[in-house]
Amino acid sequence: MKVMVINGPNLNMVGVREKGIYGTKSFEDICEYIREEGKKRGHEITLFQSNCEGEIIDELQKAYFENYDGIIINPGAYTHYSYAIHDAIKGINIDTVEVHLSNVHAREDFRKKSVTAPACIGQMCGFGEDGYILAIKALELKKMSK
Ligand code: DQA
Repeated sequence: MKVMVINGPNLNMVGVREKGIYGTKSFEDICEYIREEGKKRGHEITLFQSNCEGEIIDELQKAYFENYDGIIINPGAYTHYSYAIHDAIKGINIDTVEVHLSNVHAREDFRKKSVTAPACIGQMCGFGEDGYILAIKALELKKMSK
């Protein structure tokens, strides 16, 4: 499968930011892990990170025009208020899995609400970087069930 992995604002600072919550692995290490695990499973993985809402939307639209089979997205804090990202996911008709490194449901109240998850086929949270691999597996299972 052609899978696009999109990470939103501040995820590039993982390994530096709030290590007690997000861990000590650098963002580059996490990207490498996703790339390697994806490759092992026979997928073509494209990784993209941006701190800007519009760039994330552009990338989602690009996934449509470039015929991606699946998307994995960690929208960072945009999760909690970006109707524009919700609409972009809805608009492209590609199976999308939302991922969060931390268990957003065990944190502040504002993190318990995701406006983007309803546009996705499901959400994975609280499993650190393994969440991205679980998301790849979810996309595989979804494809098999079609
Ligand atoms: C996050 C959770 C969000 O609430 C937060 O704003 C992030 C990271 C996560 O991966 O746990 O930036 O998406």
